[in-house]
Amino acid sequence: MDFKHRGKLPWLSHFIYSLKHRGLINTCALGLKEWQKERELGIDTFGDKASNELSIDCGSKEGGHLYQPSSSVIFERAMNALPFNFTDKVFLDIGSGKGRALILAAEAGFKKVIGIEYANELNDMAYTNIEKVKNRFPNTEFVLREGDALAFDIPEEVDVIYLFNPFDEDAVRGLMKKVKPVFARQKSIYLIYVHPVHSDVLEEALGSPVSIINNQKGGVDVAVFSAIS
Ligand SMILES: C[S@@+](CC[C@H](N)C(=O)[O-])C[C@H]1O[C@@H](n2cnc3c(N)ncnc32)[C@H](O)[C@@H]1O
Repeated sequence: MDFKHRGKLPWLSHFIYSLKHRGLINTCALGLKEWQKERELGIDTFGDKASNELSIDCGSKEGGHLYQPSSSVIFERAMNALPFNFTDKVFLDIGSGKGRALILAAEAGFKKVIGIEYANELNDMAYTNIEKVKNRFPNTEFVLREGDALAFDIPEEVDVIYLFNPFDEDAVRGLMKKVKPVFARQKSIYLIYVHPVHSDVLEEALGSPVSIINNQKGGVDVAVFSAIS
């Protein structure tokens, strides 16, 4: 599957991909749950967007993957792998798109959620989505930043770094230059890599994952890295 370019029928390629990795029943159940989640929260985060369809003004555009929203089911499984309560924790989404993972993190109870996204249109949609839900999550502070994640300094307050397959191998290597020193100084930090196609690059930089979450066909959905591995 090409993660950079949108196909003619993107929903069909995702459906086929999911069928292969999860089977028919799980694929349909997952799709239904995500649709219900959109309705329940009143947000609009569906749809794919490739970087060449978006206004992006930075050198990292070439390495960027397609926008796709996080699955709430996989997100919840990933959060369950973390050993702490989130009410005093800060969540950072690298490539925050239309804000779905930020909103799911608010729902999980994080006190602050930060998103960095380089595409202006997606960031605008994230603002709109967050406006719709922020009253539901009065204990969560939402922060959106527009710009290149590779040029973004990871704030010291961050406890969980979240990546949903945002970019290619070179960009992941570039990001590791920022993440490695953070892992060295802050021992309680975790990194969640969903759809971890370049997990080997993270393993080189951060060591083996502390937890792996498999899909129904045995493939890896999520790799969790910790500074105390
Ligand atoms: C697979 S989507 C995930 C969206 C969101 N994190 C979620 O889970 O719903 C990856 C996102 O990363 C963004 N992205 C890719 N490269 C980036 C970069 N260098 N800086 C900032 N955002 C980037 C894309 O525009 C896209 O929105």
